[in-house]
Amino acid sequence: MERRIPMILDCDPGIDDAVAILLAAAAPEIELLAVTAAAGNVGLEHTSRNARRVLALAGRQVPVYAGASRPMFGPQVTADAVHGADGLLGLPVPEPAFPLSQGTAWDAILQASKRYPGELVLVVTGPMTDLGIALAKDPSLAGRLAGVVAMGGASDFGNDTPAAEFNILADPEAAELVLRSGVRIAMCGLDVTHKAYFTREDIRRLEALGTPQARFAAAVIESGVDIHRRYGVEGSPMHDPCALLYALRPDLFTQVHCWAGVECKGRLTRGRTVIDAYSDAKRTPNCHWVTGVDRAAFVEETIRLLARYGGQGE
Ligand code: RIB
Ligand code: CA
Repeated sequence: MERRIPMILDCDPGIDDAVAILLAAAAPEIELLAVTAAAGNVGLEHTSRNARRVLALAGRQVPVYAGASRPMFGPQVTADAVHGADGLLGLPVPEPAFPLSQGTAWDAILQASKRYPGELVLVVTGPMTDLGIALAKDPSLAGRLAGVVAMGGASDFGNDTPAAEFNILADPEAAELVLRSGVRIAMCGLDVTHKAYFTREDIRRLEALGTPQARFAAAVIESGVDIHRRYGVEGSPMHDPCALLYALRPDLFTQVHCWAGVECKGRLTRGRTVIDAYSDAKRTPNCHWVTGVDRAAFVEETIRLLARYGGQGE
């Protein structure tokens, strides 16, 4: 096997974050150094506990660090209407099997970047607050990371507001700081995550694996089918697993190298990601904006990884 990818998953579990954690913990190609949890979908108390609950479900003891309890500057927003008051829809998930690790998420990211200079991949599936704080503490982090894959943004319609996708709206200033930092970053916005969906037939296949992990993932994914009809999506988009799988299998995706920035001031547009693909402004590209995915291959790869919990996947 090729050298494993040293990875930290920074998240706000959150039901789709939970599936991303299960995938990262299952993938033999990933050396999951830590999971860091910030406030986002629900408060930090829940996200830092949920990260450890999902790892207990995975049967893995990976260090979990608590991150930011609120955004760097603006008002706090949450998404408990989608994720439930506890962040995991009240689903039957084990209690944490171990305590939080000492120290902050941002210091864990900085220390790992020094242990794995040029190799560490950071996947961010919640607000970018922890990465923003790490870069504010030590701007040289941008050059030490092999790359960042973030779930966030949308080049057209928002989901939390008409203009903004939730993760960016939850901390626009942090996202703008990250995009200006020079870090190598791929942005998996709604442009691609709305194409990375599970149909009810895919969900039945996942459920048929029969393991506690697969049943949990199927229940989480099922919860997204109906609420996403209004987006015109034919199933349940897996936002955060999309970012994780981009880090693992970028060959399944298409992207454009372009400039992206975040509107932090607009009364109607705060949190909007503005993408310069071909305007006269000719802004210098600062990210790979992921635009498409081979949906069938995405579903197969997700099922393959989750099947590993029952010793079924290769
Ligand atoms: O807009 C989707 C994103 O917001 C996902 O990361 C989901 O977990 C929520 O945080
Ligand atoms: Ca998330």
